[in-house]
Amino acid sequence: MATRIAVNGAAGRMGRCLIQAVEQTEGLELSAAIDRADSSLIGADAGELAGVGKLDVALTSDVAAATAVSDVIIDFTLPEVTMALLPHCVANNCHPVIGTTGFTAEQKNEIEKAAETVATVLAPNMSVGVNLSLKLLDMAARVLGDDVDIEIVEAHHRHKVDAPSGTALRMGEVVADALGRDLKECAIYGREGRTGERDRNTIGFATVRAGDIVGDHTVMFAAEGERVEITHKASSRMTFAFGAMRASSWLMSQQSGLYDMQDVLDLRN
Ligand SMILES: NC(=O)c1ccc[n+]([C@@H]2O[C@H](COP(=O)([O-])OP(=O)(O)OC[C@H]3O[C@@H](n4cnc5c(N)ncnc54)[C@H](OP(=O)(O)O)[C@@H]3O)[C@@H](O)[C@H]2O)c1
Repeated sequence: MATRIAVNGAAGRMGRCLIQAVEQTEGLELSAAIDRADSSLIGADAGELAGVGKLDVALTSDVAAATAVSDVIIDFTLPEVTMALLPHCVANNCHPVIGTTGFTAEQKNEIEKAAETVATVLAPNMSVGVNLSLKLLDMAARVLGDDVDIEIVEAHHRHKVDAPSGTALRMGEVVADALGRDLKECAIYGREGRTGERDRNTIGFATVRAGDIVGDHTVMFAAEGERVEITHKASSRMTFAFGAMRASSWLMSQQSGLYDMQDVLDLRN
């Protein structure tokens, strides 16, 4: 029997990608599509909304009913929307796959508490490639150690309002952790004028904002005589949606607990 997938925030940018991805993934079927009660799209066919043709699943705001008929609910919405969803997940044993970002420490604690009852995946970046890159960065930093200069270069579209990207910062943390450094103390976020010679213990960040770039990240380990570069380039939001499909299928066979994409991809060891 196919795993029944509900999509929360189904009319959003990620929501529409998620519906497309469910349709393209064997073993998964769309069981419910939810958005906020005052959305003018309530009642519309979720498949038509996502551009994949009629699926006979009407957009609803009834989370209780949606979680009752679903094995997994994929949530890319807002922190307060995710928090309101959790009691329904627990009551109906419906597994949350949470891609929403921006939770407070208290909200993360609540997610952790709910996950004691119902197995949950929480991942601020669901791209399989980004999560693999984090593992490769950890390995590279451990092998190359303190003998290289480390620079992180990221590029995003002109509408992005924060810098460096959350993913670039996470990459910096992974490298710093592997080297026993504290990123807060060794990060250099910009250079201008007479900067003096480079300190090998620093990790440099450089940011590009231009056009419609979805998201490029390169971490450079530069020594005398050679340079290792690990690069990830995202070209579509579908990469995050397919990561969520992988997490949904994986979650069905897990005991209760809070997991992330490193668990889903078996990258812990
Ligand atoms: N983990 C990852 O890999 C990853 C990747 C991309 C994005 N994200 C995160 O995913 C989240 C959503 O991003 P997005 O770009 O898809 O945003 P978006 O286009 O604004 O989508 C959010 C959707 O949730 C809807 N919503 C609002 N209140 C709701 C409620 N009470 N119940 C159900 N749905 C509700 C919104 O409706 P209205 O627009 O009508 O308010 C909208 O359709 C953000 O936190 C973003 O950072 C994570």
